[in-house]
Amino acid sequence: MAFPQQFLDELTARSDIVDVVSAYVHLTKKGNNYFGLCPFHNEKTGSFSVSPDKQIFYCFGCKKGGGVINFIMEEENLSFRDAVAFLAKRANLELPEEDGDREAGQKRQRLLDLNRAAAQFYYQNLQSPQGAAVAAYLNRRKISRRTATNFGLGASLDSWDSLLTAMLQKGFTKAELLAAGLVVQNQQGRLYDKFRNRLMFPVIDVRGDVVAFGGRVLDKSEPKYMNTSETMVYSKRRVLYGMNLAKKSKRGNIILCEGNIDVITLHQAGFDNAVASMGTALTVEQIRLLSRYTKELVLCYDNDEAGKNATQKAIDLLNNSEFSVKVLQLPRRLENGQYVKQDVDDFIKFHGREAFEALLTGSENHIEFRMDAVAAKYDLTDDRQRVAYAEEISGVIASLANAVEREVYAGRAAERAGISKEAMELEVKRAFRQRASRERRQLERTSLNPAAQLQPKERGCRYTDLRSAMAEEGVIRLLTRDSTLFDCCCQLRPEEFSSPLLGKIYSILLRCHQSGQQGGVSLLSQELEREEMNHFTGLLQKPESMANSRQAMADYIAIIQDSCRARSGAQESDPLVAAQEKYKAKKGYGGKPHE
Ligand code: UTP
Ligand code: MN
Repeated sequence: MAFPQQFLDELTARSDIVDVVSAYVHLTKKGNNYFGLCPFHNEKTGSFSVSPDKQIFYCFGCKKGGGVINFIMEEENLSFRDAVAFLAKRANLELPEEDGDREAGQKRQRLLDLNRAAAQFYYQNLQSPQGAAVAAYLNRRKISRRTATNFGLGASLDSWDSLLTAMLQKGFTKAELLAAGLVVQNQQGRLYDKFRNRLMFPVIDVRGDVVAFGGRVLDKSEPKYMNTSETMVYSKRRVLYGMNLAKKSKRGNIILCEGNIDVITLHQAGFDNAVASMGTALTVEQIRLLSRYTKELVLCYDNDEAGKNATQKAIDLLNNSEFSVKVLQLPRRLENGQYVKQDVDDFIKFHGREAFEALLTGSENHIEFRMDAVAAKYDLTDDRQRVAYAEEISGVIASLANAVEREVYAGRAAERAGISKEAMELEVKRAFRQRASRERRQLERTSLNPAAQLQPKERGCRYTDLRSAMAEEGVIRLLTRDSTLFDCCCQLRPEEFSSPLLGKIYSILLRCHQSGQQGGVSLLSQELEREEMNHFTGLLQKPESMANSRQAMADYIAIIQDSCRARSGAQESDPLVAAQEKYKAKKGYGGKPHE
């Protein structure tokens, strides 16, 4: 599976990390390093750094870091192998042939080919007499031929194996059909089509690949939708339905709604900037995807409890991001003297596109949505409830960073509750001070607890011997800054490290150095897990004086070996361990010679 180190060296030499990252992040030079807004979490001030000397990136906010290959893996959502291939193409380098990896790549491609063939099959069905039921359903939902074609909609047939048969005929195997999630196996081991008698929605990613399918029933039966489960080519956290089309939209923002049909209806009405998260809560990965195409989001979820909750969750996730977020609230509709809930699709059908356009331009920013939600909880004609309202709403307003905004919304909230503006402003100021001191306490708590601060963020890399681990970190920092210091390490063995991760990093650096290779970072990228790489680049950020580096190295090594001896001594004097050792020796296990 592994690439030869020489190839990785060549590749990283031709893929300068500043050049590569600059294509995604606007970088500004500060001192020796570059800074910008982190593409991996939402932030307003740049804590994302790139070091041209070390050829690594590191975000002080979300603590992600790595070399140029890790950056591409994270940003383009690729495996190590695919990220290497991506960079090789960019650098005009031929990839060394690698059996195992090439197989994985080929398998992915086969699944994508299969999905495309299946989409064509469903599409053809819809054009034929066998797809009449689905075609009639589209008519009922007022989805035009043209729109259906634009989305590649299709029909799965009322049969157990029509797709299976057609795809086997095209040369795809049963194993491939199973791996793509297009067929399922019953208890007797027989295969049958997963999607039957449904309106089919191919899910197409931003590269234009068909990665999955959704299928809707034509009547009221359950489940209403079936979707492809996770496969080698589909992770639902990373895809938004309609994004393949919305990314080309000339409209300035992107509308996020709940359902596939909502997206289709909106596009048909001219709002070609609509996407849906297909019934699941918005994810960080989807936000990152959106950030490539827009800076403004309009949340347009259903106006029922579930939709409100989804809106609140999305706002929380987008809080503090660079996105400006608006909430479009769909009104309830009066039907036979009763108010009924409606989704985007209903709204467009009953009120038309102009009405939606008006909602869109008038849509509120998220603070107004939250204020409405709080107001709805209280009866504002009741004095006691007004007091409670003022208290809660001031907390919401206090979360605004901008003082002018806080004043404006305090005024509105006061008006709503029939309280004087001054009283409300006082209340907001109090809440703001409370909030600030809470944040300060939080900060103090973490910074006053150095042991907690020194611990790695990832649970899997926790240090058990902090004193030794700090010295081990020091050794690694010194070696990456000055390779002549490897001379001092002849006596230090990786097994003597208290942290298995740091020991592993040390042994990789050692191996690289001994074979006369340069690119420690690219070899580490290949051999370490993502979290481990984050931890490695994180520890490189800590200060390390190079003034007396040889002495420092000797001190670190002394600490490490001393701690190592102490640990093994503790083990020996532990009666339980001693008893076990004795037992093993008696039984002839464990290689200890008999006395
Ligand atoms: P909705 O129930 O709101 O459906 O689910 P919808 O999109 O409005 O569809 P119509 O108008 O009734 O035809 C919203 C989305 O949640 C996902 C689908 O992606 C759907 O579009 N969903 C819903 C499922 O994955 N499974 C389900 O059983 C239901
Ligand atoms: Mn609907």
